[in-house]
Amino acid sequence: MSAEILTQAVRHHEAGQLEKAEALYREVLSGDPNQPDALHLLGVLAHQKGDHAAAVTLLRQAIAQDASAPIFHLHLGYALDASGHSPEAIGHYETALKLEPGLTPARHQLADTLLALGRSAEAGPHYEALLKHEPKNAEFLAKLGAIESDSGRMKEACAHFEAALRQLPDNALVHIGLVHALAHIEPEAYETHHTALMEEAFGFPDVAHQVLARPAAALVKRKTAIDWKAEEVDPEGLSELLSDGLLLALLRKTTNADGELELFLMRLRRHFFLAHEIATAQLPFLSALAEQGFNNEYVFWVSEEEEARLVELKAEIESGFAEGANPDEAFCEKLLLFALYAPLHTLGLAEKLNGVSLDAWPSHLQPIAQRTLFDWFEEQAIKDTLPSLTEIKDATSRAVQSQYEENPYPRWLSIDQPPPSTLADEMAQVAPHASLPGFLAEPSPEVLIAGSGTGKHAILRALSYGDAKITAVDLSKSSLAYASRMAKTFGIENIAFHQGDILDLDCLDRQFPVIECGGVLHHMKEPEKGWTVLTRLLRPGGFMLIGLYGEAARKDIVEARKRIAELGLQSTPKDIRDFRKAMLSGEYEDFSGLMVFHDFFALSGCRDLIFHVQEHRYTIPEIGKMIDDQSLEFLGFRFYEDALGIANLYRKEYPADPDMTDLASWERFEEAHPQVFTEMLGYLFWCRKPMEG
Ligand SMILES: C[S@@+](CC[C@H](N)C(=O)[O-])C[C@H]1O[C@@H](n2cnc3c(N)ncnc32)[C@H](O)[C@@H]1O
Repeated sequence: MSAEILTQAVRHHEAGQLEKAEALYREVLSGDPNQPDALHLLGVLAHQKGDHAAAVTLLRQAIAQDASAPIFHLHLGYALDASGHSPEAIGHYETALKLEPGLTPARHQLADTLLALGRSAEAGPHYEALLKHEPKNAEFLAKLGAIESDSGRMKEACAHFEAALRQLPDNALVHIGLVHALAHIEPEAYETHHTALMEEAFGFPDVAHQVLARPAAALVKRKTAIDWKAEEVDPEGLSELLSDGLLLALLRKTTNADGELELFLMRLRRHFFLAHEIATAQLPFLSALAEQGFNNEYVFWVSEEEEARLVELKAEIESGFAEGANPDEAFCEKLLLFALYAPLHTLGLAEKLNGVSLDAWPSHLQPIAQRTLFDWFEEQAIKDTLPSLTEIKDATSRAVQSQYEENPYPRWLSIDQPPPSTLADEMAQVAPHASLPGFLAEPSPEVLIAGSGTGKHAILRALSYGDAKITAVDLSKSSLAYASRMAKTFGIENIAFHQGDILDLDCLDRQFPVIECGGVLHHMKEPEKGWTVLTRLLRPGGFMLIGLYGEAARKDIVEARKRIAELGLQSTPKDIRDFRKAMLSGEYEDFSGLMVFHDFFALSGCRDLIFHVQEHRYTIPEIGKMIDDQSLEFLGFRFYEDALGIANLYRKEYPADPDMTDLASWERFEEAHPQVFTEMLGYLFWCRKPMEG
């Protein structure tokens, strides 16, 4: 009789009629309280209804009656996972697998739970086993790729992400994982097929390509047997190189960050500029080189001969175009040569050219017209519409503003775009052990990005804090206009850009759940004053991200700044180019380490890096004191690259600080591993304001 009732209950259960199924399971149990199948299925039903605690109790009772049923252990594992007892769940998945080694869902969930707990070394073999059964499963391939990437096995990671890509060609997380792995393979370990793969990766629309700049340069140089150092270049022998897809992608989509390649390209540019003829086959390369010029803001060194010719060429162009006409071939050739050295908007007839529609330009000039002319006019129009929150009165703020009006920084081109999350979920990762304030989950929680510059950080946040309403403030309208135009290209509507001085932001007259301010405060005369304003603007219980320069991380930069001051160099394009050329030619060996920074390879980046009007640098104890002075709580450092490697090393060396928040330990850690904070030029960290009362 009870077997019949059970069969009927299962039928209802399978049909989604949970109430009816539950009543019948209970009927069976009223006759036989230890009936294992009824206990099991009622437990499964409780789990489905979200009552995980009841599910755990019922499934434990089922196992007490029959411990040999793998499915009981699997379902208890699910319920334990769902009720926050993942470490215990692992034991039950393992038992289920011992009882039935082919129980794929148990292996899948075991692997996922181990991964979620950070036990990726244990999860890896399970994904490998799952792949034996399903070699094309993109989820398993990508997860294994991520595990290998985190443990530094980049070539293996790359192979697994590539296999995942073949299954999911448009998946952003696969793109991001693949690019990361591809960029971090040791140059000598690259194989021939990596060249084509990298070229393909330059076509992904949802990743930051800059990380590929150096690896792409290394691959291009390795596969082309030419003398990269030769003083005189002979384009005759270069036809293969000049049509190389990887080189063209590197030039268009990144700022080159390879010194040897820069010097070579500089000589090549000069050759073409002073030559009398350009072959049609060379146009794509010259177009890409002009885009590279725009990307690096024309940072390549220019000889006097080129400068003189450029003045002549500009005059020829400006007198050779009638309003309303379409640009002809000879005129376009001149524009292309000019665009190797300067953006088209600097021409006297820029306004006239802006009236020529994009499709009237030859294809090789279209990206140049778009980027160096149309986009610039669009930014000028945006500037006029940007609201101002405050006047810029402070003398240092005005000097800093002037630097960033001339050289908005950073001139970023692309960013990683993983799927969106919410502000509350993201903050849960910032403080995994804390109970989060309820206001983070209110509709449209507000975030302030203070000193948003050209918007890279604000746009990354707008994408990941999908539910947030973001206010971005900066001194520089040029930077904000760049940011606003880029936000439009990403279809972002949840950022409001404003001009204003952080020092006077009390005028906002409201408090924010989250405030982020990276790379800004150290450019104030008195950074503490700016920080105090931000702390007042933070809601009690709210989170704040701060980025400050580090004394140790900027050692080479300090030396370079000293030399620049001794030489009396100014932050003009000419002085920056001259100083860079000397560095690239090996002159200042004692601080040549600063060429590791990609910023060195663009004009605004280089100005920001070593020619800044105002900078402060800090040590970890000084940062600790400032955090105390602000009455904030330190929540931990953040790292861009190799975050896991650094965190693992720290945990190993300082097991007594599992939260990784003891600044005295971090100070000793930095002394032992001085490179740890170098990539970020200092310290990026989260703090929290205590709740009131
Ligand atoms: C090095 S950039 C960093 C930009 C951005 N936070 C990022 O990480 O990409 C510094 C920015 O801080 C801005 N800034 C400096 N002092 C400021 C102030 N007192 N108020 C508002 N913005 C300021 C500058 O205008 C500049 O755009």
